[in-house]
Amino acid sequence: MTSQTITAAAAGTWKLGDLTVNRIGFGAMRLPQHGRALVPDAVPREGDQAIGVLRRAVELGVNHIDTAAFYFSPLRSANGLINRALAPYPDDLVITTKVGPGRDPSGAWLPHATPEQLRGQVEENLRQLGRDHLDVVNLRIVGTDSIAERFGALAELRDAGLIRHLGLSNVHPHHLAEARAIAPVVCVQNRYGLGAGPEQDEFLRGCGEQGVAFVPFYAIAGAGSTAGASGTDSAEVLSVARAHGASAAQVRIAWTLHRGPHVLAIPGTGDPDHLAANVAAGALRLGADELALLDSLHRGGASADGR
Ligand SMILES: NC(=O)c1ccc[n+]([C@@H]2O[C@H](COP(=O)([O-])OP(=O)(O)OC[C@H]3O[C@@H](n4cnc5c(N)ncnc54)[C@H](OP(=O)(O)O)[C@@H]3O)[C@@H](O)[C@H]2O)c1
Repeated sequence: MTSQTITAAAAGTWKLGDLTVNRIGFGAMRLPQHGRALVPDAVPREGDQAIGVLRRAVELGVNHIDTAAFYFSPLRSANGLINRALAPYPDDLVITTKVGPGRDPSGAWLPHATPEQLRGQVEENLRQLGRDHLDVVNLRIVGTDSIAERFGALAELRDAGLIRHLGLSNVHPHHLAEARAIAPVVCVQNRYGLGAGPEQDEFLRGCGEQGVAFVPFYAIAGAGSTAGASGTDSAEVLSVARAHGASAAQVRIAWTLHRGPHVLAIPGTGDPDHLAANVAAGALRLGADELALLDSLHRGGASADGR
């Protein structure tokens, strides 16, 4: 199932506030480097290759791209590549970025941003992307502390017109409730996928009930996280893949999309063939028996991941 003709529209659409996106999008974290992301000694990817992937994504109907100013390697930044590849941007393209963590120029992580630093990060994203406003900004956090002050700072930038819509990342349900008391939230971006364990299931359902998109990251990479996909998969995933003439990665993406109409996929890749396969996964319809098999694997948690 590697059609170059299936477009992202096959996955159906969802509205992030007033912005309609195809449910298959693209995550830009893999573009600045080969191999492990977010490390100071990352091996930069060839710029032409990354730009080709971005342009092909848009040709294939992708209109939701996830990025961050802290996605960079010694020579490339995701935002810079997006700007070079796609500006002037298509009218329907929604670029979602995230703020909170920062990295110094050497690539080392900085302490979590203060409200004032969050404003600086929004301006940095505007500058790098070459835009006068950001479509969606996720506040990414670590831990369980209150986000009221930090989210409030972003809500002010939304009121000022620099941000169209707000989201959250790496959060717990109480954070969503806290944020929604301050300003509307259009998406939650959390780690999720087959084999990740069922802890997030209730939150995913709760987001749907509140009309909030749930956007999984590491749906393919799983336990490989920043290092990427390991290429090993459980017998169940492989058998479903075989039945559809699909790959395990495609089954992983399709399974997340079957979790609810509000689930948006943002698979990341620097490989044009993987990109086309990931977009085509939006057309993969899993049968009831297959979903039951994969759901039971999911309930088994990480040990069922084949990794
Ligand atoms: N909010 C957060 O905290 C957070 C954290 C991490 C990531 N994110 C976002 O989520 C996006 C998705 O995460 P991700 O990119 O790390 O992980 P992913 O989409 O789960 O997986 C990417 C990995 O899988 C490989 N891959 C992709 N498509 C494949 C295919 N069709 N067949 C085989 N292998 C395939 C990629 O390698 P190749 O390049 O070789 O294809 C890469 O190693 C990121 O790009 C980023 O935008 C957000």
